[in-house]
Amino acid sequence: MFFRASFIASLLAVLPQASASACRCFPSDDCWPTESIWSQLNKTIDGRLVKTVPLGTPCHAPNYNSEACAVLKDGWLLPEEHYESSSSIMAPFFAEGVCDPFHPVSKPCTLGKYVSYSVNVTSRAQIANAVKFATEYNIRLVIRNTGHDYNGRSTGAGALAIWTHHLKDLSIHDYKDKHYAGKAITMGAGIQGYEAYELAEETGYQVVGGECPTVGLAGGYTQGGGHSALGSRYGLGADQVLKWEVIDGQGNFITATRDNEHSDIFWALSGGGAGTYGIVWSMTSKAHPGTPVSGLNLTYTNEGLSQDTFFDAVEAFHAELPAIVDAGAMSVWYFTNTSFSIAPITGPNIPVADLVALLKPFTDSLDKLGIKYNMVSKQYESYYSQFKDMQGVIQVGTAQYGGWLVPRSVVQNNNHGLMTAYREITEAGGTFIGVGLNVSHKVSGDVHNAVLPAWREALIDTTLTTPWEWDDSALMLERQRQMTEDFIPKLTALSPKSGAYMNEGDFQQPNFKEVFYGTNYDALRKIKAKYDPKNIFYARTAKMGISQVVIEKTCTSTILDEIIARTSYIKSQGT
Ligand SMILES: Cc1cc2nc3c(=O)[nH]c(=O)nc-3n(C[C@H](O)[C@H](O)[C@H](O)COP(=O)(O)OP(=O)(O)OC[C@H]3O[C@@H](n4cnc5c(N)ncnc54)[C@H](O)[C@@H]3O)c2cc1C
Ligand SMILES: *[C@@H]1O[C@H](CO)[C@@H](O)[C@H](O)[C@H]1NC(C)=O
Ligand SMILES: *[C@@H]1O[C@H](CO)[C@@H](O)[C@H](O)[C@H]1NC(C)=O
Ligand SMILES: *[C@@H]1O[C@H](CO)[C@@H](O)[C@H](O)[C@H]1NC(C)=O
Ligand SMILES: *[C@@H]1O[C@H](CO)[C@@H](O)[C@H](O)[C@H]1NC(C)=O
Ligand SMILES: *[C@@H]1O[C@H](CO)[C@@H](O)[C@H](O)[C@H]1NC(C)=O
Repeated sequence: MFFRASFIASLLAVLPQASASACRCFPSDDCWPTESIWSQLNKTIDGRLVKTVPLGTPCHAPNYNSEACAVLKDGWLLPEEHYESSSSIMAPFFAEGVCDPFHPVSKPCTLGKYVSYSVNVTSRAQIANAVKFATEYNIRLVIRNTGHDYNGRSTGAGALAIWTHHLKDLSIHDYKDKHYAGKAITMGAGIQGYEAYELAEETGYQVVGGECPTVGLAGGYTQGGGHSALGSRYGLGADQVLKWEVIDGQGNFITATRDNEHSDIFWALSGGGAGTYGIVWSMTSKAHPGTPVSGLNLTYTNEGLSQDTFFDAVEAFHAELPAIVDAGAMSVWYFTNTSFSIAPITGPNIPVADLVALLKPFTDSLDKLGIKYNMVSKQYESYYSQFKDMQGVIQVGTAQYGGWLVPRSVVQNNNHGLMTAYREITEAGGTFIGVGLNVSHKVSGDVHNAVLPAWREALIDTTLTTPWEWDDSALMLERQRQMTEDFIPKLTALSPKSGAYMNEGDFQQPNFKEVFYGTNYDALRKIKAKYDPKNIFYARTAKMGISQVVIEKTCTSTILDEIIARTSYIKSQGT
């Protein structure tokens, strides 16, 4: 098998770059390592190798266990259940229904797109050794943190995963360089939002993280950009980064800052895409002094209203957004064609009376339109106390996603056109989720990173969803088509030069290079080639029929026209 791997390598060497196909060894191939070779790897990584047993196993023959399965079924829509597993992922389409509580007991589990093995890493050496093993044996390598990724980028069929979840070092300390002097938070790659928030709260600071408390901060979140309830005050997650420690595609340990010899990978990791340039070991970011934080939520429904009136009120809310975000607040809001909910607006260092005043033109409109609404506004002592009281639980496994960044100019110049597009989308069954923020350079300050430039002009990070059904693959594919061909284009038409947040974007997004990376693409592509010359990192987002539970052959699933494309977003051809 050793022979086979190097044979393939030499074959690849003579192929022209464009057609070089990095076929990986797959469990059914002769070149796949024997049990004894896997256990040799295990010895070089302190016994941290975990062979995948899919999380849903107790729900299927021949291992069915009704009690264990009931517990799994109860928790399946919550992130907690998945991130404690070494292999499970939250996005149902990419999990392919091969082993979950919603399919018949009689159907035995298969691995599908779940990784074959993971390394439950606790040391840098374990990571470097796993990278070397995957390279030597030509095994697909995946970086797995929490498994939150909407586009299945933390899994891969036949892969070895570097599982970072247990890297939990965390401290707040002083930091000083040419650009910043103040407090900083250093977190291991496995730190999740709530862990950073708790430490910050205890010590009197605020750190930028997601609205979902369990997303991994140094993982996909910050590497993809990272929007936050504190975004209009401090910028994106990627704008906070001061230092990365990372193991590159050849197993080298690197410390990257804005000013040192690895400033290129510092720039790329800060917003230029997750799982692409290296395996992050730790991240150091700004920690801001704590402030009081206000919160406000508001709901109304279409009961007793004409649809025109219902959407006029949505339009009235959007008209107030520039003033709301420029005051430093961030809004999350949802609507369908029957209900509207601000959930919530977060006002760091904005007294609650000011927040209510910012909303007054909107609540006046509601009154004028004769709309009854429920509003709760409250003052809190800190960010985390507001967060715990007002950010609702976010379920997973309930939807498919797509998105678009709507620039401020669209709201200012064509608010009615925007509302009309949203109305058409929700009337066709889509749900709107908005993140309203001002992360312009005026807010982020002087930063050096690969954040998609469209974020700086954006007012509304629009996420659109369609409902997920566990057992109707034809309908799910139709809803994907609807997202790609009907919904997103309505927003693209209003702002063709904008883009989309890659962490919450449509995995079938056409022109993904421009849309997800913008003008940074070519520079990122070069940095990728420098730090991962063997293209060892894999993250699949290939378009794949949901009914295709047949295990994919690695050679047919990836098209190597572009390596960033392969590791982040690819259009598949012929699968
Ligand atoms: C319920 C929910 C709520 C969310 N809320 C927000 C939000 O408020 N704001 C926001 O901006 N986003 C939000 N997201 C999107 C989130 O940012 C992405 O899903 C992100 O990819 C999650 O990163 P992770 O590391 O936790 O997850 P994973 O799925 O484990 O990893 C995601 C990607 O990051 C890569 N990666 C992980 N760890 C590392 C590492 N150490 N080194 C290199 N690459 C790594 C993986 O290979 C993969 O490509 C939310 C997602 C969900 C499911
Ligand atoms: C790796 O070694 C540890 C410690 O000996 C063992 O518990 C574990 O089962 C091994 N992993 C695999 C996949 O064999
Ligand atoms: C992973 O490692 C952590 C920390 O050592 C341990 O608590 C956990 O049980 C391990 N998980 C698996 C699945 O091996
Ligand atoms: C964003 O907020 C900053 C800081 O409050 C402000 O200076 C700026 O004008 C706002 N708007 C834009 C588009 O940057
Ligand atoms: C609004 O916030 C309060 C917490 O202060 C919460 O109890 C209530 O459920 C929230 N309402 C909505 C619709 O989210
Ligand atoms: C809302 O949208 C749904 C889904 O497309 C549709 O069936 C329903 O008729 C719409 N309701 C109204 C009041 O427009």
